[in-house]
Amino acid sequence: MHSSLFLQEPKSKDFIIPQKIAHRGSSFDAPENTESAMRMAAKHGAEMIECDLQITKDKEIVIFHDDMVDRTTNGKGKLEDFTLAELKKLDCGLWKGSEFTGERILTLAELIKLINELGLKANLELKSTNDKTAINLVKKTMEILNFLDIKPGKIILSSFSRLCLLELTKYTHPYKVGLISKKWIPNIQNELKKYGCWSFHVNHKFIDKEKVISLKKFGFKCLSYTVDDANAMHYLWSIGVDSIFTNNVTLGLYDKIACIAI
Ligand code: G3P
Ligand code: MG
Repeated sequence: MHSSLFLQEPKSKDFIIPQKIAHRGSSFDAPENTESAMRMAAKHGAEMIECDLQITKDKEIVIFHDDMVDRTTNGKGKLEDFTLAELKKLDCGLWKGSEFTGERILTLAELIKLINELGLKANLELKSTNDKTAINLVKKTMEILNFLDIKPGKIILSSFSRLCLLELTKYTHPYKVGLISKKWIPNIQNELKKYGCWSFHVNHKFIDKEKVISLKKFGFKCLSYTVDDANAMHYLWSIGVDSIFTNNVTLGLYDKIACIAI
C-alpha cells in the first residue's frame, strides 16, 4: 500500500485549515475568549482562533465559555439570565491578571470585526444548554453572519449539540460545519453525513491512527482538542490529524507534517 508524507498540502480546495487553532484565543497567556486573547493569538502567529458562542437573556450572541459567569468575571450567576447590557458591565479580564482589568465580554459582531482586522480565521462553537436556546442561538448567529457577510473560507461552525447541528441544516449558508465529541463515536460518518458536516472535532485522548484513517476514508477532516503538549501535537499530526486546538499556540511547529497520505 502506497503511503507518503506531504508537506504544506492544502487540506481542502475551499477551506485551508492551519495545523493549530488558538483555543479561546491565546488563552494560556490572556483571558479566554477576549479581545486580548485574540490579539495575542495573532501576535503568536496563529492563523485561526476558536471561541464559544452563547445567547443572552435578550437574545444577543456573546463570546463566552461557561454556563456561569463566576469563574471568568467579577459577576455571579447563569449567563443566560443576563442581558447584553448587564454582561458588558462585568470585568472578564481581572481573573487572569491585573494587566487585563477592564476587559469586556465580546459580542459575535465585535469578534468578527476583530478577526477581520487581525486576518484570522475562526471556529465558532455554538454552545447551548437547552432546546430553546439552541434554536435561537443558531437563528441569531446566522442572522449576524449573513448581515456581516463574512467570507465562507474564514469560518467553521461547530457544536456538541445535535440540536444546534440539526438547526444549522435548515439554513442555506456557505460555512463548514463540525461535530464536536468528548469521545470517539463508532460509525461517526453516519452522523457527520446527517448534519452535513465537514469535520469531526474529538478529544485527543480518544483517537489513534486507525480512527483517523477510518474518518478520512469518508472524506471528513479530523480536528483534535485540547492539546498543550508539543510531543502530543507532533504525534497527532503524524497520524493525520488535520488541526489541533491548543491554549498555547507557541507550542509545536507549524508545517512539521501536514498529513499522512492514505
Ligand atoms: O471546540 C473544541 C473545544 O473548545 C470544545 O470544548 O469545552 O473547550 O468548548 P470546550
Ligand atoms: Mg469551545
